[in-house]
Amino acid sequence: MKPEKTINENISAVWEILSKHNTPPSACVHSYGCQLNVSDGEKIKDMLLKMGFTLTENYEKADMVIFNTCAVRENAEDRVFGNLGILKRCKEEKPHMIIGICGCMASLEHVTDRINSSYKFVDIVFAPSALDKLPAIVLEKLSGKKRILCPDQYKNGEKIPVWELEQKRDSSFKASVPVMFGCNNFCTYCIVPYVRGRERSRKPENIVNEVKKLVSDGYKEIMLLGQNVNSYGSDLEENIDFPELLERINAIDGDFVIRFMSSHPKDAGRKLIDTIIKCEKIGKHLHLPVQSGSDEILCKMNRRYTIKKYLETIDYARSFIPDFSFTTDIIVGFPNESREDFELTLKLMKQVKYDNIYSFIYSKRSGTKAAEMTDCISDDEKSRRMTELLSLQREISTENYKRFIGRTMRVLVDGKSKKDGFMTGKSSEFVIVEFEGSESLTGSFVNVEITEAKNWAVVGKIKKEI
Ligand code: 5AD
Ligand code: SF4
Repeated sequence: MKPEKTINENISAVWEILSKHNTPPSACVHSYGCQLNVSDGEKIKDMLLKMGFTLTENYEKADMVIFNTCAVRENAEDRVFGNLGILKRCKEEKPHMIIGICGCMASLEHVTDRINSSYKFVDIVFAPSALDKLPAIVLEKLSGKKRILCPDQYKNGEKIPVWELEQKRDSSFKASVPVMFGCNNFCTYCIVPYVRGRERSRKPENIVNEVKKLVSDGYKEIMLLGQNVNSYGSDLEENIDFPELLERINAIDGDFVIRFMSSHPKDAGRKLIDTIIKCEKIGKHLHLPVQSGSDEILCKMNRRYTIKKYLETIDYARSFIPDFSFTTDIIVGFPNESREDFELTLKLMKQVKYDNIYSFIYSKRSGTKAAEMTDCISDDEKSRRMTELLSLQREISTENYKRFIGRTMRVLVDGKSKKDGFMTGKSSEFVIVEFEGSESLTGSFVNVEITEAKNWAVVGKIKKEI
């Protein structure tokens, strides 16, 4: 049997074919969903550039389009199938267009079956574990193969760890750095463990070297990513956990802010909080997805913590920094969530005073445990609860943000705000800060004195000295 070509050999082979074109073909990579998926999208872009494609944002005009999909909620899936309908019409006018589907949806059998039978214009489908096989897949496609749909050899993936692939970063000052992949938690509503597999941690020296390089290239925000960063290291030979990894990154020379997500409350203990407080480069903010304020629902979700335990972590952080910033994820309308359960969530929100929440109406994902649970709460009731929750959070945020009035916040400037003449950025607490200033400040740190609180941001005046 012939040995499999390496990723670089496949990249070179594609490059040789494409270099014969007068103008290089263009590719559009559209990523849906979470930041880990966006980071996979950046890896795909890096490989495509190396193969000789140019990149475009306009998928209707591209020669190749890759939808890097998300499967966490049903509406994300619906959007992909809707957008595929648009691509079908584009391909009718431009038959050479190559259409690819990857990401979490590509790991689901019902999706691949549907694409196989009803979306015959889709040329390639590959799962997240087969990211490194993209050059081989493109080579086969350019060599005349009609369709490449998750063949078994590609499902075996990970001969080259996909997490060590380079990323073509969309930003020149904010970088995401995956530290671990997969999840072992099996929360009953969640499809992630089924589509992303078990937890695998990257070696600490690879992460530290990547961050060092990013900082020397001028990156100012390093976002460490993982489905559950707090279990980082449990699968490594080296004895290291997430707080120790944070300390090593904090010790890297340079002016940059460290952020991370997501943390599971069952594993986010005192050691993590001590590290956030101690390390000057870590943003003073923790995203701690609670999902529900009801112990009964948490138990049905298999979250393995109680609200009492969750609040202990919040109180511990606030014993050092009284207004330590917390954000969270909340699911509304988990099967048979009673009015009382929901009110416990509202109570918790008032108690914790989150600076922001990401809330989702429960979406049934077939294959998960929760999908088998009976549910007698109507969709209308779920929508009403969502509206109530969002309205409460708006009140909480406005009240919370008043604590910053009169303070000076150090802000990493993201770019122009929607309001003319204004810029927008994020503080150490991950709060949106708006101020009058010039576009040339994008990507730098500025000090802003806060004068006003809105329900989604604070507004202030830039201070001269930085
Ligand atoms: N329905 C609704 N929300 C979900 N999430 C995960 N699975 C589902 C689902 N089936 C939410 C959780 C998680 C966030 C990333 O997505 O709140 O923290
Ligand atoms: Fe899904 Fe729970 Fe794992 Fe988060 S911790 S990815 S919600 S199973």
